[in-house]
Amino acid sequence: MQTMLGVIGGSGVYRIDGLEDAAWVAVETPWGPPSDQILTGRLDGLPVAFLPRHGRGHVHAPAEVPYRANIDALKRLGVTDVLSVSACGSFREDMAPGDFVVLDQYIDRTLGRAGSFFGTGCVAHVSLAHPTCARLSAAVAAAARTTGVTLHEGGTYLCMEGPQFSTLAESRLYQSWGCDVIGMTNLPEARLAREAELCYAAVAMVTDYDCWHPDHGAVDVAAVLRVMAGNAAHARSAIAALPGLLGPDRAPCTHGCDRALDHAVITAPDR
Ligand code: ADE
Repeated sequence: MQTMLGVIGGSGVYRIDGLEDAAWVAVETPWGPPSDQILTGRLDGLPVAFLPRHGRGHVHAPAEVPYRANIDALKRLGVTDVLSVSACGSFREDMAPGDFVVLDQYIDRTLGRAGSFFGTGCVAHVSLAHPTCARLSAAVAAAARTTGVTLHEGGTYLCMEGPQFSTLAESRLYQSWGCDVIGMTNLPEARLAREAELCYAAVAMVTDYDCWHPDHGAVDVAAVLRVMAGNAAHARSAIAALPGLLGPDRAPCTHGCDRALDHAVITAPDR
């Protein structure tokens, strides 16, 4: 099987560099249209599909992102491996603005986002104990390291509803839970990628200390945007380094992501 890399770009990452044969393609899905057309092409010879999560021009709020359509569209294009890139706030002094965190756990504080392809006639329960792909995450970490960015391997992401930032009490609560970073988008994607049997890895780029830090004020968009510009440049360099690390041939995933449904569907097949 051939590797095809899908990249979901978050706030600040609306394009990728160095794509050959680049073309924006419209993809239809049973879940409606994805966030935008998808930019396809080849990076270092590897087929790549890039989707700006919030759409070009940043038009979808976190709760409005069509997560199911996005993952379905990438799957339809033949994507095998999904890298999610997003901005986040930090709950840790040592995860500073400008740092990258390769996530490995999530806590959900969203409010009823559509987070499954299953239900209504076909019921399945995939495992999310380890919601990201360890194999792809290792490659993503190696790619990020080539950019010189300060990298943290492993981190728990609190996925909040937004679009407002947290209250101080919420921020302190999430910190006391052991969360490392906070954002508004990642978790529905991780769930859906697992159901779609796609490998999923996530890089969270720290833009701020949320509002818990005594030496930093409340989060404001202007400060977030300032840090984001530098983060986005590092993200694009990491993405450019990834195809060479993944290689064109795709063995079965050592983490089992590509077989996640093997024992997950409960509904009788002959029903
Ligand atoms: N994205 C970037 N910074 C954030 C924060 N502090 N909370 C939620 N989402 C964010």
